[in-house]
Amino acid sequence: MIFFDQVTAGYIAPDGSPLPILKDLSLKIEKGEFVTIMGANGSGKTTLMRLCNGLITPQSGIISIDEHKISANDHSEIMAVRRRVGMVFQNPENQIVSTTVEREIAFGLENLGIPHEEMVARVENSLQQFDLQKYRHRSPAMLSGGEKQRLAVASVLVMDPAYLIFDEPTSLLDVQHRRALLQLMQSLHQDSSHVHTLINVTQFPQEALISTRLIVLHEGRIVLDAPPKEAFLQVDLLQKFGIVPPIEFLVFKELTERYDQVTSLDDLLLPPII
Ligand SMILES: Nc1ncnc2c1ncn2[C@@H]1O[C@H](COP(=O)(O)OP(=O)(O)O)[C@@H](O)[C@H]1O
Ligand SMILES: [Mg+2]
Repeated sequence: MIFFDQVTAGYIAPDGSPLPILKDLSLKIEKGEFVTIMGANGSGKTTLMRLCNGLITPQSGIISIDEHKISANDHSEIMAVRRRVGMVFQNPENQIVSTTVEREIAFGLENLGIPHEEMVARVENSLQQFDLQKYRHRSPAMLSGGEKQRLAVASVLVMDPAYLIFDEPTSLLDVQHRRALLQLMQSLHQDSSHVHTLINVTQFPQEALISTRLIVLHEGRIVLDAPPKEAFLQVDLLQKFGIVPPIEFLVFKELTERYDQVTSLDDLLLPPII
């Protein structure tokens, strides 16, 4: 479980004073959930995700990742948290560090101290799963944007983190690669042999429909937390936070306002984009 208990967190202002971005935020995400996070630019989404994997630490309050706790005074569990929470960033350039594709996938495993034989097997598996074998000896810099993103995801997944955070990973992808990544998220969520907990930060409301819970952030606070199909019915409220629900929800609202009897929302819903 990811548990935020009255967490205030952010950055340090140029004059050295604390600059809180998230204020007194409490949140519980259970194992196996698939959560979508939305909110306008600057609402604190990335700050929240960085807190989940110990890239930044709270100014007050406690963050627990299973039995590992991080607070303002106690950072001793940060490495344990990083092992448990994998993060894929918007721009894969920011997380690729190695000179070949193969080494990039092995990098995190080396840091974890995985025995050599097991490492080789896991890298092989990952190259295959993400269709990167033919690029194994190439420099990541030579890959296309979509391939770099695939490599970034492969390098995180190979470490087998229990919690997986995707911070706007689809924003730079074309439709085909975006679809592939969303399908991967969905298959990880549905994988019955291994419980994955997923968090996807996105600007595309349609993506929320493959998840089980939508959390909306506004100026560092959670302003809506509901199953996506319920949340998107609150059209006027969402628009205040800069979010336009998928078109079917707008049509549904228009129809219910104009006519007494309308078709059900489920009849209007298009199949998910993926
Ligand atoms: N390293 C930083 N130093 C100071 N302020 C920052 C830093 N990173 C982000 N911020 C500020 O924190 C706020 C929230 O940013 P962020 O969490 O990145 O929002 P989002 O991901 O929702 O766009 C913004 O006002 C941003 O300017
Ligand atoms: Mg962000």
